[in-house]
Amino acid sequence: MENNQIKQNRDFMKCPILGEAMKVSDQSKGLPHPPHGKMVDTPLITLQSFNEEHNNPIKAGDYSTLLDIRRSVRTYGKTVTMTQAQLAFLLYSTQGIQEYRGKNEAFTLRTVPSGGCRHPFETYIAVRNVEDLQPGIYYYSPMAYVGEKKVAITFLETLEDYENRITQMLAGQSWAANAPVVLFLTCVPYRSEWRYEKHSHRVMLIDLGHVGQNIMLSAAAMGLGSCCMAAYDQDLCDKALNLDGVDEYMVYAASVGMSVT
Ligand SMILES: Cc1cc2nc3c(=O)[nH]c(=O)nc-3n(C[C@H](O)[C@H](O)[C@H](O)COP(=O)(O)O)c2cc1C
Repeated sequence: MENNQIKQNRDFMKCPILGEAMKVSDQSKGLPHPPHGKMVDTPLITLQSFNEEHNNPIKAGDYSTLLDIRRSVRTYGKTVTMTQAQLAFLLYSTQGIQEYRGKNEAFTLRTVPSGGCRHPFETYIAVRNVEDLQPGIYYYSPMAYVGEKKVAITFLETLEDYENRITQMLAGQSWAANAPVVLFLTCVPYRSEWRYEKHSHRVMLIDLGHVGQNIMLSAAAMGLGSCCMAAYDQDLCDKALNLDGVDEYMVYAASVGMSVT
């Protein structure tokens, strides 16, 4: 192969002998597992429940219909509001923690699968239009409610000049800034490196696809559209979310909202 970079990238997709990396990982050295989420010192906001009959945002009938209606949607109404129950269900589907497992609660079981139960992602939400929430950037704290179908978020900052900033962060995809929310998924790589060492990165990318599919299917189940985005401006996103770009950085985005076509 002439292009060495392409060869390297192809090889990166292949499965190495994971056991060899695990023999030298921090887990095998007995080092403590990293936290499953970020510690927040700003007040938590518990979103309206999605788990009661009168508030249940799920509209879809059977599973096969859901597969038929899931489509990437890029047409959102700037003034269409998302309910708190819809946002809560979306976030719960993305990273909700059902239980801790293992010695010292080293593992979490969540609404998505993850290689070795490492779950190396965090979820930030750019809110444009959600009932009773001020616009801005929020962080979803899945550790606030473990084993409960409840969702808590915390407000981080307002985003001045929202439409332009989101458009720039998403590499010019201005339609996404019209959505009531955009989820920004970040990676905290050490959570997976602790177990899989240098072979964790391939596994994390596979994990990420599962999260994206849950976002899309849950949006579809609520009668909403969504679009996952791998195209974004790394520096602008990392800066806007106050990430160091080394131990945590942006990896995926998804707009969600009612389609207005
Ligand atoms: C990993 C991944 C990255 C994507 N990135 C973008 C993106 O940056 N911008 C965009 O408009 N669509 C993006 N899409 C959406 C695809 O273009 C879309 O899934 C494809 O056109 C098929 O349409 P469907 O999702 O309606 O089946 C992405 C989808 C995936 C799975």
